[in-house]
Amino acid sequence: MSTIAIILGSTRPQSNGRALFNHLKLTINQLTPNTTTQFTFLDLADYQLPFFDEPLPPMANPDRQLPANQQRWLTDMAAADGYVILTPEYNHAMPAVLKNALDFLAFEGQRKPVKLMSYSDNMRGGQFGAASLVPVLQRLGMVVLPKPTPVGNVPQTLQADGQFISEAPLQARYQRALQQALTEITYYTDVLTANPFPTV
Ligand SMILES: Cc1cc2nc3c(=O)[nH]c(=O)nc-3n(C[C@H](O)[C@H](O)[C@H](O)COP(=O)(O)O)c2cc1C
Repeated sequence: MSTIAIILGSTRPQSNGRALFNHLKLTINQLTPNTTTQFTFLDLADYQLPFFDEPLPPMANPDRQLPANQQRWLTDMAAADGYVILTPEYNHAMPAVLKNALDFLAFEGQRKPVKLMSYSDNMRGGQFGAASLVPVLQRLGMVVLPKPTPVGNVPQTLQADGQFISEAPLQARYQRALQQALTEITYYTDVLTANPFPTV
């Protein structure tokens, strides 16, 4: 059985992304009815990561001794076989907290698939946030799936607890887009987990 981590890329207390994150938590079983995949939900705010200031790049430092909260972030990422990253767009890029969290990683995500799901409070869906993540994730050795899923108008569609706002017009479109995104990441995670890259 494979595990997919769904990561919330904003730590703002009033984050619109948290509504989408909560929505996925509430509906994950309906959105992925025919899978044995286990989903974990990683909220960056839970890790309280400082600004990265280690003396060496993580990839060049196999002997890192990290405080428990920082190690937990690495362990949770290593435990997953695939990822969905929820990212907003801050000034045409990913939020600094998300880039900072990714800078803590060494090989935890290597050769694992990642689906980008960008979101926004407007109709554009935060696509520059997802685009800015592609080279970062590739540098970390992750297999970035084609076509990020943009999710627009989050506060117009979801309550903070993740429930749909009654009669919100985008409900059906959300269900289709989220189901498609989760089907893709589940498929690629299963394929890559069943066919591990050969040791060279
Ligand atoms: C610092 C900042 C910069 C933003 N820059 C953009 C932007 O470049 N393009 C855009 O469409 N929305 C932009 N927005 C609006 C965000 O898409 C929207 O606020 C989104 O809900 C932020 O995600 P969050 O609430 O989970 O932090 C920006 C918001 C913030 C706080």
